[in-house]
Order: sequence, then C-alpha cells, then structure tokens
Amino acid sequence: MAEPLQSALDPGLLLWPPSASTSAEWVDTLFFVLLGGSVLVTLVVAVLIALFCWRYRAGAQVRRGPGLTTRGAHRLEFGVAAAITVGFLAVFVWSATLYLQLYRPPPGDALIINVVGKQWMWKLQHPDGSREINTLHVPAHRKVRLRITSADVIHSFYVPAFRLKRDAVPGLYTNMWFETTKPGRYHLYCAEYCGTQHSHMRGQVVVMAPADYQAWLEKTGFDKSPAAVGQALFQAHGCSGCHRGDSVARAPSLAGIYGRPVPLAGGGTIIADEAYLRDSILLPTKHVVAGYAPVMPSFAGQISEAEILQIIAYIKSLDPGDWERGP
Ligand code: CUA
Repeated sequence: MAEPLQSALDPGLLLWPPSASTSAEWVDTLFFVLLGGSVLVTLVVAVLIALFCWRYRAGAQVRRGPGLTTRGAHRLEFGVAAAITVGFLAVFVWSATLYLQLYRPPPGDALIINVVGKQWMWKLQHPDGSREINTLHVPAHRKVRLRITSADVIHSFYVPAFRLKRDAVPGLYTNMWFETTKPGRYHLYCAEYCGTQHSHMRGQVVVMAPADYQAWLEKTGFDKSPAAVGQALFQAHGCSGCHRGDSVARAPSLAGIYGRPVPLAGGGTIIADEAYLRDSILLPTKHVVAGYAPVMPSFAGQISEAEILQIIAYIKSLDPGDWERGP
C-alpha cells in the first residue's frame, strides 16, 4: 500500500529531535528566541567582565572615581530595568498565547481521537470506531485533536517530534491538537511516572499521507462507530428507561442536549459538555436538573472510561427531534 515511512524512531545520535508538526515549529521558534536572548546576555556580561578586568587591573593608570553623574546613572538604571521588564513581559505574552493555542481545542474542523491512558498502555479510538493500542495512526496535514483521559492514575501523553505533552488525568478530559507536516514514525512516551511498568508505556505515532490513512482505516475499521456502541450501552445500562423523550416525567430527555445550557435545581445553568455528561453518569447528584428529583444512581465502577466516551458520542449524535413523544 504506502511507500515505506521514513522512521524517526532510531535516528542515532541527534542534537535536536525531529520536528513533524506546526506546533513543533512554533515551540522551536520560541525556544530559539529564548536561547538567542540568553546567549546575547551571557556574551554581554562576559565581555564586560573581561573588559573591566583588563581596564581596571592593578597598577593601570585609569580614573577610579565616580564616572557618570548620579543623575545619569539613574537614567541608565531605569532604562535598563524598563527594557528588561518589557522584554520579559513580551516573552510571557508570547508563550502564554502559544500554550493556550496548543492545549485548547483547535479552531475549525478537526479529527477527534479518544485517548485513554491505562497501566500500562495507551488506548486510542478513531471517529469511525477503529481502535489501536500504543500506536497512533494519523493523517498528515490535517488538524487532529486528542481528547485524553485516564482509567487509573495520572499518565502523560508525550510526542517529542510534535513538542507536545499533556497529562492524562482520571476524571478529567484534557485536550491537545496538532497538524503534522511530515509523514513518518515518531516516538510516543508516557512522561509521568505511573507505576512499575511506566518505562514500558511507550509506542509510536505513524503519520501517513491522507490517502494512506483512509486505506488504513478501511483495512482496520471493523469496529462499530463509538456512537453505535454507545447506543447499545445506553440500552444495556437501562439509561433509555428514564432518559428517552417519552419518559420525560422521570428524567430529562437527552435528545439534542449536547452543547445546550441545562437549568439546575438551586438556580443557575450549566452547559451540557463532555465533562458535564461524564459527571452526570458517575456523580449524578453533583448537578441535578431543575424540576427533577435526585433519584439517578451512580454508575461509577460499572462503566469504563472508554464506555463513557462511547455513550457521550451517542448522546452527541442525537438531535432534538429524536425520540418524539409517542408509542
Ligand atoms: Cu503511564 Cu507513565
């Protein structure tokens, strides 16, 4: 099928890791500007030290009294302090903007891949339901968003070639995204000590030409889509008994709820996002919907993180018109 991918997995001795995404270019630019600034300051200080050592050496015939007037010295000091402040603030604004850009969901249309860290493997699921472990296939030149969580302890999803690292935290969805620039194979690590097999929790990211990615999906995508699996789970766990639109007396209907504000008992509203839906499954008394009694049992311990993501995918797939009242 595809031509053999250039592998960045064993490149021998490298002074600089391979760079394979737009995020890597942004981070490298920031890094080199900081490095350049540090080298510049170090050089200025070193040259001044050498110069003063020589000029004011013992026995040299130079004036050693006050040089600048007090007024001139103050002006110089204020000037230097102001320049340093502005310089550091500029670096802060630049790096903070970059951080938010990298770890917020990307603008526009992105391929969303679910990532679940687990002692000691990375479980990955593509939008069409294809699943893989420790190897992530992604198309090149397309925005890919990772929705990351953990089934047990804190892990950290780390791809040096993308200059990206994001914690996988139990009970939380974290995001990161990238747009790759070069097909190839790149290292994937867990970068958070997570138990005795932590050092074995690694794999690779395989960046493929878009056509090759499609071919790969068709070859491996025998699984049902997450929403289809989620629908089966929704029924198997009895959710449909209360949450379908035709049984609206007991519990709110979930059709079209995703992304909408939900009124809460005790006042206020909350947007029904992924975190809210997850909380409602595991901690149903945390946010009780206005007008309903807190009668839903918690499903903590009965449903895995991967299953919760599938149920959320199903809820997201519902339209407000689904489940009209009726037989
Ligand atoms: Cu998972 Cu270290």
